[in-house]
Amino acid sequence: MEIPRIKLKSGNSIPVLGLGTWQLTGSKGADSVRKALELGYNHIDTAEVYDNHREVGRSIVGFDRSELWITSKVWRDVLRHDDLHKACDKALSALGIDYMDLYLIHWPNPEIAMAETLKALKELQDMDKIRSIGVSNFTIRHLKEAFETGVPISVNQVEFHPHLYQKELLDFCKQNNIIITAYSPLGTGAILKDETIAQIAEKTSRTPAQVALKWLLGKGLVVIPKASSEEHLKQNLSVFDWELSGQDIKAIDSIGVKHRIYDEFDNFDE
Ligand SMILES: NC(=O)c1ccc[n+]([C@@H]2O[C@H](COP(=O)([O-])OP(=O)(O)OC[C@H]3O[C@@H](n4cnc5c(N)ncnc54)[C@H](OP(=O)(O)O)[C@@H]3O)[C@@H](O)[C@H]2O)c1
Repeated sequence: MEIPRIKLKSGNSIPVLGLGTWQLTGSKGADSVRKALELGYNHIDTAEVYDNHREVGRSIVGFDRSELWITSKVWRDVLRHDDLHKACDKALSALGIDYMDLYLIHWPNPEIAMAETLKALKELQDMDKIRSIGVSNFTIRHLKEAFETGVPISVNQVEFHPHLYQKELLDFCKQNNIIITAYSPLGTGAILKDETIAQIAEKTSRTPAQVALKWLLGKGLVVIPKASSEEHLKQNLSVFDWELSGQDIKAIDSIGVKHRIYDEFDNFDE
């Protein structure tokens, strides 16, 4: 079954499910990415700091580039104008592609003016080196600051899973036509042991991972679970031909905010 897409502010359409590739490095990592593409994944999420651009680049050889969605992220210490241009060229060269579908500021950096970074990203978009501009780990405060530059932001990639239901941020992004990509959608594995999720999985004959992904997709989010085994890759792909009941959705909603995994750089202090 083809993975549905959501149209972004940029006009491009992002597949709602992608493969997260943090920790997918070396030949084993490349094998997982290749296997995912063979199974029907067409969206890969990588980053400069994952140290796997070359492996991702090797894995996509032979697949139709126009059908693929490649997201990468620039690290927070190279957000100045010239550094960012260089980082983008380096990423494209390592990935072996002419353009990225989506390029994200990995984490905000208060030491570097956001206007300078976003201006550089807009230039890269005008040069067709990147097709959509996005951010990651941005709070509402960061997004408001970004809006002042006038550069259109299509995506905010943040930690989002049944133990971190960021409703206020989601509502704000919806009002401003920004799509949220949920990173660590399985809480790097912790969600799979949650009692509510496990009960719903058992009742619906799905797996806990599928229930968590379905909950996120139902809220209009893009999800990028990382999986290395073929079984996990297949399971995570099988989330489009069934629905969760309203009652089950409410039960997961009510878990609320239990746990944030990534809290770096004093980012979430508002
Ligand atoms: N923007 C950011 O700052 C940021 C931060 C963190 C992550 N990310 C992105 O988000 C992606 C996903 O997050 P994540 O890697 O932290 O964790 P995750 O996707 O929440 O969880 C991955 C873990 O769940 C396991 N798993 C996957 N599918 C499963 C299934 N169907 N059943 C049981 N277990 C399953 C994986 O095992 P196996 O590997 O053994 O299959 C792995 O241990 C990353 O890879 C990265 O691309 C972005």
